[in-house]
Amino acid sequence: MDQCGHRCAGLGLAGRCALVSDTNVAPLYADEVGASLEAAGCEVVRVEVPAGEASKSMAVAEEVCRQMIRGGCDRSSFVVALGGGVVGDLAGFVAGIFYRGVPFVQLPTTVVSQVDSSVGGKTGVNAPEGKNLIGAFQQPRLVLADTRTLASLPEREFNEGFAEVIKHAAIRDAAMLDAIMAVGGAGDASLPGLVARNVAIKARVVEADERETSGERAHLNYGHTVGHAIEAAGGYGRFLHGEAISLGLVAAGTISEQTAGLPAADADRVVEALEKFGLPTRLPPDLETARLLELMRRDKKFEAGRIRFVTVPELGRAELRDDIGEEQIAAAIEALR
Ligand SMILES: NC(=O)c1ccc[n+]([C@@H]2O[C@H](COP(=O)([O-])OP(=O)(O)OC[C@H]3O[C@@H](n4cnc5c(N)ncnc54)[C@H](O)[C@@H]3O)[C@@H](O)[C@H]2O)c1
Repeated sequence: MDQCGHRCAGLGLAGRCALVSDTNVAPLYADEVGASLEAAGCEVVRVEVPAGEASKSMAVAEEVCRQMIRGGCDRSSFVVALGGGVVGDLAGFVAGIFYRGVPFVQLPTTVVSQVDSSVGGKTGVNAPEGKNLIGAFQQPRLVLADTRTLASLPEREFNEGFAEVIKHAAIRDAAMLDAIMAVGGAGDASLPGLVARNVAIKARVVEADERETSGERAHLNYGHTVGHAIEAAGGYGRFLHGEAISLGLVAAGTISEQTAGLPAADADRVVEALEKFGLPTRLPPDLETARLLELMRRDKKFEAGRIRFVTVPELGRAELRDDIGEEQIAAAIEALR
């Protein structure tokens, strides 16, 4: 965080900038980041949005733009997003539309945003009709992940982020499972290296298929077909995203075992890693399979009546399939009980 100013200056980002953060993160870190930007000669316009997913809306995006205008920002300004995925997605989207586009920098402060959402250029807001339906591809000029910030995360949020880390191991880097099992907690000395390893995985996938056309970026959806349905069935409040994805990873592991030859012991290693972070691996009984299948059919991964499903034939390698039937998915959901 204290390097933000000079690193921005090194990229030619100078002058006025909007430091966008939320009501949880700003009191903790905005002073340090603001001071660093000011020391590098920037004029900082601070914008604070309410913490929480509800801030990913067109109304809040407009309000951020208007605060920037009133603060004197113009087309020569840039945006610094300080916070989790909500702030990153929102502020990145604002940077994409403010004066038809200004540069932006991400300072992700959650596990999810450090290993996942800050990399790849997907930005946007939610519509009342659905999540992430309004947005733009907008690559940040710089991403600075300072793992010191993870120490102030509530434990549930810290743990949640590991669902995506474990997913990365399953689809691209089997050996990373050992590193994941060795993580001691938010202050662990291995975290900077582990975050970097995950950024490299996500960046390689995105570089190969930025706009999700070749199917490679779809590998990142491993565990998400069932996971998204569980998240929706819980009304987006009962499970954190990573908790729903945890259940989705277990189901995808079962399907990989049954249809792609994943050894049972390897599917178990993924389950053990999820359990280490207190992530759920058993489905609560009230979530009915029929309801989950119905929600799954509405998902964008369901194309022309066929589900595009990612399986892992061996840990560290993924493949996109269109031959996984609903019965197989239903059976894997039942096996979660
Ligand atoms: N763009 C992408 O590719 C992508 C990928 C994955 C997720 N996302 C999006 O990211 C969002 C979820 O991100 P998230 O999990 O980071 O949620 P979040 O931004 O809501 O942060 C979680 C909570 O932790 C608080 N917080 C953040 N950093 C903190 C810190 N260091 N100390 C104390 N509290 C802190 C936040 O205020 C919030 O209350 C979703 O909207 C999701 O759609 C986007």
